[in-house]
Amino acid sequence: MSVPAFGPVRRAYEDLVARKTLTPDPAQRDAAGEFDRILTDLTGAKTKGGFFGLFEKQMSVKGLYLVGEVGRGKTMLMDLFYSALPFAEKRRVHFHEFMDEVHVAIAAFRKSAKDSAADPVDAVTKPILKSGLRVLCLDEFHVHDITNAMLLDRLFSKLFAGGVTLVATSNVEPDGLYKDGLNRQLFLPFIALLKEKTVVATLLSDQDYRRLKFAGQHVYAFGTGPEVDAAMDKMWLRITGGEQGAPGVVESIGRQIPVPLVAMGAARFNFADLCEKPLGTRDFVRISHEFDSLVLDSIPQMGRTKSDAAKRFILLIDSLYDRGVKLAASFAVPLEQLGADEKTAFEFQRTLSRLTEMQSEEYLAKGLRDAPSV
Ligand SMILES: Nc1ncnc2c1ncn2[C@@H]1O[C@H](COP(=O)(O)OP(=O)(O)OP(=O)(O)O)[C@@H](O)[C@H]1O
Ligand SMILES: [Mg+2]
Repeated sequence: MSVPAFGPVRRAYEDLVARKTLTPDPAQRDAAGEFDRILTDLTGAKTKGGFFGLFEKQMSVKGLYLVGEVGRGKTMLMDLFYSALPFAEKRRVHFHEFMDEVHVAIAAFRKSAKDSAADPVDAVTKPILKSGLRVLCLDEFHVHDITNAMLLDRLFSKLFAGGVTLVATSNVEPDGLYKDGLNRQLFLPFIALLKEKTVVATLLSDQDYRRLKFAGQHVYAFGTGPEVDAAMDKMWLRITGGEQGAPGVVESIGRQIPVPLVAMGAARFNFADLCEKPLGTRDFVRISHEFDSLVLDSIPQMGRTKSDAAKRFILLIDSLYDRGVKLAASFAVPLEQLGADEKTAFEFQRTLSRLTEMQSEEYLAKGLRDAPSV
């Protein structure tokens, strides 16, 4: 019997199915095949020789725009693809964060530019192309505001011309982007470009796997000791589909934040790892974009001696809540006894209300959304 020749993404997918981390899903298998097609094209891509070979450029490879409803596994598949890419000239970033970077670079250029005729978009694309980037993976592609709508065509025309392959996930198909937006006709060329440079595929899975994982779960445990730890371990394994996970890092403004355990889009931290380290809002927003679920162990009662940690905890919960990240946590004391310092008592009221909502069936069933920029 001949064994089907799967590509690396499909193989990684089948491995996870064999380990029972993933439930087999035919729609996801097909999508894995789409990712493998790009891998094959990229690894077989020849360089296009320029004048005496001096201006050699990567032949452009058609990317993928993967559309699907929430929790269908788009990000999971994109992560498998990203890990399978056998070169370093790749980047995976949340679309909203990428566009923030673009705006920061344009603003910096405008402030310093001597040549007012120069195109600010070049200030963004030149360093990217100079870095030799071959694949840009953008998670959660969507367009709501006019600034991005009017910028995307110029931005991506330059990136595509430089040989970058775009891989994007989205809840909206290209024709639905910036729907009913102001001056939408000016946005249409970008839709045409997107369709030309990517294969648009729909992930027609029936399941919202995120919802399935959290439905009916008690995500908070109270108290300390081996029983609570065991409950948290169980919750972690439920969230990761049985994967123990391994240490990882989150890149944040040129720094690396260590993550004790990472698996299947989830991260596990101790309270002290996040709230007793010099981390701030930006770091928490980064973490919220990187993971869709977070397990946080050993949240203590925060009295006067812990007021810095309490302030960080408030910021952390705000970031997780704004993005819709699912939180499983163990608390030393009941929620209403958590904030025991009059200095932070007022802000803590909001945190308590959010923590209460974050364990609700309704919150746990919701998808992710953009966290506001900082
Ligand atoms: N076949 C599967 N079996 C079990 N769990 C799965 C499966 N596919 C995905 N998951 C898990 O379900 C959760 C949701 O998947 P993922 O984040 O990839 O969805 P998504 O399509 O990107 O959703 P969104 O549109 O909200 O970003 C993740 O925790 C993921 O690991
Ligand atoms: Mg996703």
